[in-house]
Amino acid sequence: MKLCLSRTWRTLSARSNHKRILSTAAKSTKVSNTQRETFLERVTTGPGLQDFINVKHVPRVNAIPDPTTIVPYINPDTYAGQGRRVFFEVYGCQMNTNDTEVVWAVLQENGYNRTSDVQEADVIMLVTCAIREGAEQKIWNRLKHLNAMKSKRPARRPLQITLLGCMAERLKERLLEREQCVDVIAGPDSYKDLPRLLAVSRHYEQATINVLLSLDETYADVMPVRLNVESPTAFVSIMRGCDNLCTYCIVPFTRGRERSRPVTSIVNEVLALRDKGVKEVTLLGQNVNSYRDITVSNSNDKVTSNIAPGFSTIYKPKIGGVPFATLLCTVAEAVPEIRIRFTSPHPKDFSEDVLRVIRDYPNVCKSLHLPAQSGNDAVLARMRRGYTRDAYLRLVDTIRSYVPNVGLSSDFICGFCGETEEEFDDTITLIEEVRYNVAFLFAYSMRERTTAHRKYVDDVPEAAKIERLQRMVKAFRHTATALQKEYEGRDELILLEGKSKRSSESWFGRNEANIKVIVPATALPTSKNSAETKEIAAGDFIVAKITESNSQVLKGTPLYISTISDFYNK
Ligand code: SAH
Ligand code: SF4
Ligand code: F3S
Repeated sequence: MKLCLSRTWRTLSARSNHKRILSTAAKSTKVSNTQRETFLERVTTGPGLQDFINVKHVPRVNAIPDPTTIVPYINPDTYAGQGRRVFFEVYGCQMNTNDTEVVWAVLQENGYNRTSDVQEADVIMLVTCAIREGAEQKIWNRLKHLNAMKSKRPARRPLQITLLGCMAERLKERLLEREQCVDVIAGPDSYKDLPRLLAVSRHYEQATINVLLSLDETYADVMPVRLNVESPTAFVSIMRGCDNLCTYCIVPFTRGRERSRPVTSIVNEVLALRDKGVKEVTLLGQNVNSYRDITVSNSNDKVTSNIAPGFSTIYKPKIGGVPFATLLCTVAEAVPEIRIRFTSPHPKDFSEDVLRVIRDYPNVCKSLHLPAQSGNDAVLARMRRGYTRDAYLRLVDTIRSYVPNVGLSSDFICGFCGETEEEFDDTITLIEEVRYNVAFLFAYSMRERTTAHRKYVDDVPEAAKIERLQRMVKAFRHTATALQKEYEGRDELILLEGKSKRSSESWFGRNEANIKVIVPATALPTSKNSAETKEIAAGDFIVAKITESNSQVLKGTPLYISTISDFYNK
């Protein structure tokens, strides 16, 4: 038998899912008897259990599986999109935005087109999030609408509805019990399989599913195709998955184990983005600073880990390979003229090596996300965050000693299992003590499968969660307003991103701390001492004097166009 066994297994698992789906999805009746006979005949004459015993795992490496080896009962031509138009709807975090660019690269390669008009679409792809109940509720509501749209479509123009991302991974075929309009369900590690999943689903008019998580898939061999080519900013995914298993969080179950993409493939993508005119790159990962390229050994192989003092992990220290600090300075040196950011980091991985790189490279933004989640030791222990309030505060001091004007942001959850009023008060005092420029504040939402779901009770009443959320917002706004006021009178380097939503007479951009800055549209000198001027535009770095502030936005007077190196050598 010439079939690639790992792929055959996926084909069969999809087939067995078909069987399960067949019993729940009414549309299976649409398959003609001849089609069913051929299909069943091939299933019964196909490989048996013996074929899978003692077989080594074959990593999935091809960007696009070879059609001739995969589904012998489907004509390879039907893998191709044949110009079908895809409409993307992206929910959740930046990882989903970047994954959508990987998906689009895979589909474009297979003959699909893209449309920005949902009515025109042949395939609608929802890229979903599962972090809180509310995120999933949005998708259920959307599916109701799409179901209605699908049923109105004439038979000659069928609509395929595809669910990708974390909700697809979390619910798997259970999705179809509630909403049968979904044709393809694909988890975050199976996007290269989408042309096949779409083709099989089209051919048999049945739902197809691939939610296998991978230990090695990083999509390093797929060059993402950007969805918003106008934007001067771009994301580059450097690692996937999370090994931390915070007790409240679904991400380790939807995104799988941590794995990092090789340094060279990251640098190549960043260089390609620079060549396309991108001016700011955000390195992405669920746990971005726990990055480690183990495909390369380096002289630090004996050094065990780079965990910050006072922090611990539930997993064995990662040994060898290229750590995040080295990747960051490699990227910073490769593209000195463009800004580098990274998200989302975990506080434990802010070694002093990383802080030195942030301090020493002018193009690495002096802004850090430092998700605290809670200010109380008992809650932090129940959340399994691996640090105390004191260790976190010491880290903040260390960071500010290396990078005095650093912009800090954080995530906080209120109303976690068992959180008392006194415990919550510690979160408020932490927000006041640290003073963050930006904060993402959430009421706890219990997720199935997490440790909290198994061990704890979601016992903080909804009304108390909402009241605590409002208190967090108030405490954050109060400190952020004072902090943002300190920018007034300063000259800040701003990367312009687009016209302001409120007025076409203004541009918006971001300063290094990632705070939004609004400036009036105007012509400016092309450098500090130049007599030549030009109208400012998206993608320009400009220097502006900050004149006004509130907790969210700064306003400024634009002075001149600049570059990162000119600004810092002033
Ligand atoms: N890897 C990132 C977090 C990704 S999820 C990190 O550790 O920072 C983004 C944020 O969602 C988390 O930081 C947390 O504040 C919030 N979150 C995660 N699970 C949640 C839940 N079950 N209920 C409410 N908020 C949650
Ligand atoms: Fe979730 Fe914790 Fe991992 Fe962040 S570090 S993704 S909060 S488990
Ligand atoms: Fe949501 Fe998945 Fe991101 S759960 S926050 S889309 S990693």
